[in-house]
Amino acid sequence: MSYPLEDILALRRRGGARPYRAPDGSATMTANNLRTGRWTGLRIGVLGLGTVGQQVVEVLDHERELFAARLGEDIEVACILVRDTDKPRPEVLRGRLTCDPEDILEDEGIEVVVELMGGFEPAHRYIAEAIRRGKTVVTANKEVIARAGPELSAAGLRSGADLLFEAAVAGGIPIIRSLQESLAGNRLQAIHGIVNGTTNFILSRMHQDGSSLEEALREAQGRGYAEADPSDDLDAVDSARKISILASLAFGGWVDVERVDRIGIRAISALDVREAKSLGAVIKLIARAEATPEGLALGVSPTLIPQTHPLADVSGAQNAVYVRGEPIGELLFEGPGAGGPATSSAVIGDILDAARARRVGGRSIALPHEPAALVPLEAHEHAYYLRLRVREEAGVLAAVAQAFARAGVSLGSVHQPPSGDSEAMISLVTRPAQRGQLERVREILRAERAVVREESCILAEIDGAHGYER
Ligand SMILES: NC(=O)c1ccc[n+]([C@@H]2O[C@H](COP(=O)([O-])OP(=O)(O)OC[C@H]3O[C@@H](n4cnc5c(N)ncnc54)[C@H](OP(=O)(O)O)[C@@H]3O)[C@@H](O)[C@H]2O)c1
Repeated sequence: MSYPLEDILALRRRGGARPYRAPDGSATMTANNLRTGRWTGLRIGVLGLGTVGQQVVEVLDHERELFAARLGEDIEVACILVRDTDKPRPEVLRGRLTCDPEDILEDEGIEVVVELMGGFEPAHRYIAEAIRRGKTVVTANKEVIARAGPELSAAGLRSGADLLFEAAVAGGIPIIRSLQESLAGNRLQAIHGIVNGTTNFILSRMHQDGSSLEEALREAQGRGYAEADPSDDLDAVDSARKISILASLAFGGWVDVERVDRIGIRAISALDVREAKSLGAVIKLIARAEATPEGLALGVSPTLIPQTHPLADVSGAQNAVYVRGEPIGELLFEGPGAGGPATSSAVIGDILDAARARRVGGRSIALPHEPAALVPLEAHEHAYYLRLRVREEAGVLAAVAQAFARAGVSLGSVHQPPSGDSEAMISLVTRPAQRGQLERVREILRAERAVVREESCILAEIDGAHGYER
């Protein structure tokens, strides 16, 4: 059975994408399209042709025959939305560009919309509209999923459209599908992730060469790992979005990103990193979700983790997600968390999944709608590292220890390097204590005459499984 000529011509007009030829040399489009004799491949529309979008389209064009042979379903990138059609772009993409979203959203022949524009609006509006029209949506947009996931997922259940977002968390690491499918039979206890490559690059640099945060940030920007405005990364907004998505999938209640306790890395100094090193630890920005009998404890914060922890060696722009559950035990997923190649790998996986589902029946990732029960922040229990500037005089250590005792917080280790000055530094690591107790200690220390100021307060343990020990 041969291709209808108009389809071949249309394909070529749209940028020279090659038609699929079956392995036996016939010009059959796909095995399962034989029923009508006309091409019935999957047409997709792509919103956004930037770092990720361009890579996705190029791979889909280039590997078209391979994917068709694998899936028995031909995939055509029919139309691509951009802001500016006059921007210099590869010639083969030109014929498919549009500035009008309706060219994709209103085209009934487009069954899958791939959103790779970024930002909340208008991406959210376009996704909602595509879903309302019954089109499956693939997106890498963590902001849209973290802020509007349940609403979009529910709309998809009504219209029969799927919402796939593997690329929204940890780039190329297949963590969404693993939580949804392969690990679905487990009772999960904890997820700890390094899910922001920019901050991991910065902290790794500080650890490896003693750079300041500003120096490491400049290097990250120079290498294209950090944006001109890195606030979402440094202030842990990006990590909070990602852990809210992972926790919602893993623990079965929706986690509103606004309820994730979030501390960024701006206050981490080269001295903190050096002190952590001397304690056999490394500072990482850890996004964590832990199931406790009282509910889910959630947060993102710089954390001293012992060098024996599986996440301690994850360096540079890599991402990693540590999962603990029963009966699986411990798992570590590690890989490139950002960039065109890694992210496009996850996006294309979702597109192929949508194509497969079209042939053999639907799949649906339903995000929970009911809010998850969260442990109040004051009851979060962790060890903490504190660095204090104190007066260099007799009795200071006793006064400091007394402050901790008054708040009911035990100390694990105390380190006071010699100082020939009128002031000295004390660094301490507590035993696990509730956040409320820690705040009480800090309040007492602020009023303590011997304490000049608190210079750092950082979480110093992830959980009992890999507890910090000096
Ligand atoms: N880059 C990464 O490493 C990475 C990693 C993980 C996830 N992601 C996610 O992937 C998505 C895409 O990121 P990216 O880095 O590829 O973005 P990008 O390079 O900034 O590209 C954005 C694209 O969307 C188009 N666009 C933006 N706003 C538009 C509008 N209002 N109307 C029409 N077109 C619009 C732009 O058009 P013009 O070309 O005409 O300007 C551009 O082609 C984001 O959600 C991001 O968070 C990215």
